[in-house]
Amino acid sequence: MRSRRIGLLFACTATFVLHAESGHDAWLRYQALPARVAEADLEALGDSVTLLGGSETSISSEVLLAARDELSRGMRGMLGRVPRREVAETIPSARFTADLPADGFRIKTVRQGSTHYTVIAGATDRGVLYGVFALLRRIALQQPIEALDETQAPYAPIRWVNHWDNLDGSIERGYGGRSIFWENRHARADLSRVSDYGRLLASLGINGCSINNVNADPRILAPDMLPEIARIAAAFRPWGVRVAISVDFASPKTLGGLDTFDPLNPRVAAWWSAKMDELYRAVPDAAGIIIKADSEGRSGPSAYGRTHADAANVVARALKPHAGLLFYRGFVYDHHMDWRNPKNDRARAADDNFRPLDGKFESNAVVQIKNGPIDFQVREPASPLFGTLENTNEAIELQITQEYLGQARHTVFLAPMWKEVLDFDLHARGAGTPVRALVAGKVFGQSTGGLVGVSNVGLDDNWFGNHLSQANLYAFGRLAWNPDLSAREISEEWTRLTFGSDRTVDAVVNAIQLSSWKTYEDYTGPLGLQTLTDITGNHFGVNVEASERNGWGQWHNADAEGVGMDRSVKSGTGFAGQYRPEVAKMYESAATTPDELLLFFHHVPYTHRLHSGQTVIQYLYDSHYAGAEAAANYAREWRTLQGLIDEQRYREVLAQLEYQAGQAEVWRDAVVNWFWKASGIPDEKGRAGNHPGRVEAESMRLEGYAPVPVTPWEAASGGWAVACPAARCVASFPYQGSAGRHEVRVRYFDQNNGAARFRLLVNGQALDQWIASDHLPTKKIDAASSSLRVVSGVALKPGDEIRIEGSPDGGESAALDYIEIR
Ligand code: GCU
Repeated sequence: MRSRRIGLLFACTATFVLHAESGHDAWLRYQALPARVAEADLEALGDSVTLLGGSETSISSEVLLAARDELSRGMRGMLGRVPRREVAETIPSARFTADLPADGFRIKTVRQGSTHYTVIAGATDRGVLYGVFALLRRIALQQPIEALDETQAPYAPIRWVNHWDNLDGSIERGYGGRSIFWENRHARADLSRVSDYGRLLASLGINGCSINNVNADPRILAPDMLPEIARIAAAFRPWGVRVAISVDFASPKTLGGLDTFDPLNPRVAAWWSAKMDELYRAVPDAAGIIIKADSEGRSGPSAYGRTHADAANVVARALKPHAGLLFYRGFVYDHHMDWRNPKNDRARAADDNFRPLDGKFESNAVVQIKNGPIDFQVREPASPLFGTLENTNEAIELQITQEYLGQARHTVFLAPMWKEVLDFDLHARGAGTPVRALVAGKVFGQSTGGLVGVSNVGLDDNWFGNHLSQANLYAFGRLAWNPDLSAREISEEWTRLTFGSDRTVDAVVNAIQLSSWKTYEDYTGPLGLQTLTDITGNHFGVNVEASERNGWGQWHNADAEGVGMDRSVKSGTGFAGQYRPEVAKMYESAATTPDELLLFFHHVPYTHRLHSGQTVIQYLYDSHYAGAEAAANYAREWRTLQGLIDEQRYREVLAQLEYQAGQAEVWRDAVVNWFWKASGIPDEKGRAGNHPGRVEAESMRLEGYAPVPVTPWEAASGGWAVACPAARCVASFPYQGSAGRHEVRVRYFDQNNGAARFRLLVNGQALDQWIASDHLPTKKIDAASSSLRVVSGVALKPGDEIRIEGSPDGGESAALDYIEIR
């Protein structure tokens, strides 16, 4: 075998800076290393770093050129040397690439007489690119690079991200700005962010990306859109990322003008076939198609009494000549389910729907299954469907964008959660069949499989609207490449790459990240309750009953006696019985179900004792206090990093963590009060309802302000707020605590339909003023708009008048909940 070689020789020196960073470069910052380290690395690398691409490609391969440029960029940044000479020649490469699987690479130090050089060889050009990123990561992490001989291959062929971007440029469940792909129903004129994103994806080994919402606009397949898709594909191509699109299953009718979209109708099959031919003429290396059908109001095969396999296959067959993949989403359920029927259970839907179809899908079709049986809640068991399908390709769908998990305003590092699912043994063929092996097709020998992450990055400089959330994309990619990595390893890598190798910084960031999922779970829905958020609205603020008594099926069945969904076979919905016997047995009984999933599988009285010995109700109280306390500590710990990381990211993360601490209190109080009221059982530690220093706005002296009941009641302290119906209102009270310096905490509501102004005064003297102009996902006075302003070091003595002036704006009423003095 002969292949092309590109070599780089370097010369120059390094410099050090701590400049403001926007987060745009994420983990690919290539900061200069200390001179001593850089010199040693250069010595270890030898005379050149030589890239050996796959034999099927030429030196002009865009991927190989991107690899070369990236290598140069990384070396220049970290080691201080710029390419002085570039050589390209044809040399034998079989000894490096033999036995390398697709996308795998080998990095090797080659001795030649008294000199040596470094080779990065790939079975494909993409493999070379991945090898370059792996070497640069090693250098950035300051790992040894002498006498290298390292071979890596991806765990699974499918390592994709999905985007839920609408053609108008908005993003469904996106929290980092508008679409990098679309604006105004066209591909963006400037696609440089797509290219930058491709680089981030390539650095993790991600090789596919779908670019539009699974709730697909049929127009995506319109003839005039194909050149636009082609432009996006071109922006990704140098990074080895192939483009896929989501389509509307009714397209033959809605777009194609046929009178049917019945998948068994030959005219429909011909339409799909011609359409896919057209797509591949525009984008010859397109990766495939995603379909969401018969789910949440989308059209599907049920319209014609056909199966999901019929639906998937008609498109899969059209893709076959082009070697494209068809992803059919397993997220199919009835969202008009009768909640009064105790046998009904949304969790059952995926397995009920797809079990009978195992083996009936085309070889290029993949069933894409969410990690859990419901919908990206803070904790769910692994979907049983992973273990059910033996003769059907499957992929796991993880959600990188934090829809139910704080929407970029709460730090929630998801690797620990994903690891639990990937490592969970479904006993699909006896013990030793973890989800990761099942989805990669390693247990039942399916032809393809892997991991898909719903990413939804946007145009914000830092991609996600939150610097720490970048770790979730990083973790997804690393796990897709190698699911054996631990959450800690991934967090440590990411932190060093993103914030540098200062020990204090690393310790604080890792401690926050690694505990953050548990913290979020503690204050939003522990014990398998799912996320107690507003599920019919913004999926952000707390609303304990939003999931109850409606057709969506995210019920947790809390009443005066107890809480939890009985999903046992014996007395409940039978969901537990969808697992193989070993697992089913564990979940069947409350005694053997792990505490963290107890209420997902069982309905128990509040006095039920957990394995820890605690009662359920006391655990609910304790975990919410612990979670809120942990969130407050994150902000405190972050403050110790001032000066150790660049000012911009320091400030932006601090603002986010302070916000999170304030929101965690809203969650804590709401959930604790709700369960206290429902159960009638007091908190044995006396905290519920007891808020020293808190003065409710509705009990202050009000000038203009009027009390308003808040819905849901638990979203506001005491269930009430005050709102201002005039141009300016005042709420005041005489301070009655001890003399000294205090923290004054004003809880107000920042609705997104105006920018109200507030002033805080003590004895007529203005201490602080602010504008409520955040873009929180609600225009109502509720838990999502509940916000906290903290003013520290305020000198107070008994009798001082504390006064808030509020001036509404637009639909925003300058509403107040309480003032708390600590
Ligand atoms: C969730 C999410 C929707 C999305 C759906 C899906 O329900 O809230 O926005 O369309 O998942 O995965 O299809």
